[in-house]
Amino acid sequence: MAANPDVLRISDDPSRNRVVTLARGDGIGPEITDAVLSVFEAAGTELALEEVRIGRQAYDSGVSSGIEPATWESLRRSRVFLKAPVSTPQGGGYKSVNVTARKTLGLFANVRPCLSYHPFVPSPHPSMDVVIIRENEEDTYAGIEHRATAEVVQCLKLVSRPGCERVIRYAFDYARAHGRRKVSCLVKDNIMKLTDGLFREVFDEIAVDYPDLLAEHRIVDAGAARLAARPAEFDVIVTPNLYGDILSDIAAEVSGSIGMAASANIGTDCAMFEAVHGSAPDIAGRDLANPSGLLLAGVMMLDHIGQQPAAERIHNAWLRVLELGLHTADIFRDGKSRRRVGTREFARAVAGEIGNRPRHLGPVRYSGTRARVSTAPRPSTRPKPIKDLVGVDVFLDWNEAGRQPATLAERLVRLGGESFRLSMITNRGVKVWPDGLPETFCTDHWRCRFLRRNDSRPIRHGEVESLLAAISSAGLDYVKTEHLHHFDGRPAYSLGQGE
Ligand code: NAI
Ligand code: MG
Repeated sequence: MAANPDVLRISDDPSRNRVVTLARGDGIGPEITDAVLSVFEAAGTELALEEVRIGRQAYDSGVSSGIEPATWESLRRSRVFLKAPVSTPQGGGYKSVNVTARKTLGLFANVRPCLSYHPFVPSPHPSMDVVIIRENEEDTYAGIEHRATAEVVQCLKLVSRPGCERVIRYAFDYARAHGRRKVSCLVKDNIMKLTDGLFREVFDEIAVDYPDLLAEHRIVDAGAARLAARPAEFDVIVTPNLYGDILSDIAAEVSGSIGMAASANIGTDCAMFEAVHGSAPDIAGRDLANPSGLLLAGVMMLDHIGQQPAAERIHNAWLRVLELGLHTADIFRDGKSRRRVGTREFARAVAGEIGNRPRHLGPVRYSGTRARVSTAPRPSTRPKPIKDLVGVDVFLDWNEAGRQPATLAERLVRLGGESFRLSMITNRGVKVWPDGLPETFCTDHWRCRFLRRNDSRPIRHGEVESLLAAISSAGLDYVKTEHLHHFDGRPAYSLGQGE
């Protein structure tokens, strides 16, 4: 098919066509895209596709982000992106197209349905049907990392209240719109009391607005184990970025159908739909690839843009083909499958079943009356909190005197002046002064906490600067500071033991 924009009109009546941006991607991308478009055509979708070049084609023409500027222009018009997998070149200088697209377009929710198609595709969990909604922009994926000392590196985990609010509200709205009954929040708030604690706090607040849905909370490690062993206990899961990355791979794997999984990346203005798998260079160009992941992504897209009848026809025809045992090599099983087919034949089979429904696997229904899940920002009605500066954590690179914490403390206690008192020193979060234990292993990275001497007034920035100047004059190397605040009178930082 031609690779120019505006040429892939699928409906006969162009005035009804919905503009969609399409990228064919790399590796198996072009062949599975052709397969998907042929099914779209058979199902009577009403699309005007604008094709853009991303991935290898863009890198090769010198665009290091892997995304041509014309892509953004198209997306501004269409707001909807159907994206085949792209290869991320190894080595420095190249950014991941996927991460760039998600962040630039503000795609805050990653939605990944994980289903099993037992017995047609064998799965250890025959009745699995879980949707994972992963926060897509924040957490440790902000990519803010530093090396602080010879021995220690760090990664900043950023979690915002608006970031939590929109993904969690989206998860509840999604559950309601899709007739689901439960939303589970998976975090590690027993350890990360502020960051994961905020995610859970917002979850509990928003859950109140959805009395028709069950809301539960689980610690992510136990929750992940349970998801692998008994996925039927879950329905919709909402979770921060890193846990979501891991959980969605676990869920797709135990469903037995990772190669057929699709995902939607949802933002306020835009949405991007893609297969979960990559560009599979090992089988590219050989008519071996399973186009199901991209096809189901396309079905999610059709649902998103209001073409539910076509979404329903395609999804049911696809289920019917699975039942008929026409399977691509990745899911073909002797004795279970009927015939091994290539990418093109699989697509022809699905196109041929348009209008038919599965007989064994439950048919899907995409009701046209289903409310579109709102992604509009909601202004906060919370009053602005009162913020007081009450101290500072100063991080030092210090590797002298056999790393004896008492020696370091002795040098620091005098430096606090009239504003501060040294309250504790920790090493990798373990208190080593006062009252440390000699057994504690110490690196060259020390957190030294200075709190205000006078509780009746907030600290001023100038006092922090004087403290740092004193530390520097004493020949100590500070590598980072964190200000300690009270918000509305309450400490808003993790407390050391014994504080
Ligand atoms: P991959 O998912 O491309 O391949 C893993 C294995 O699954 C391979 O053996 C492959 O042949 C098989 N496979 C994948 N999709 C298949 C399909 N539709 N039908 C049949 N078999 C299929 O993952 P891999 O090899 O780690 O990555 C290859 C490239 O894809 C890399 O450059 C990576 O950066 C990129 N990638 C891109 C993604 C995206 O665009 N969303 C996501 C994941 C990887
Ligand atoms: Mg991943």
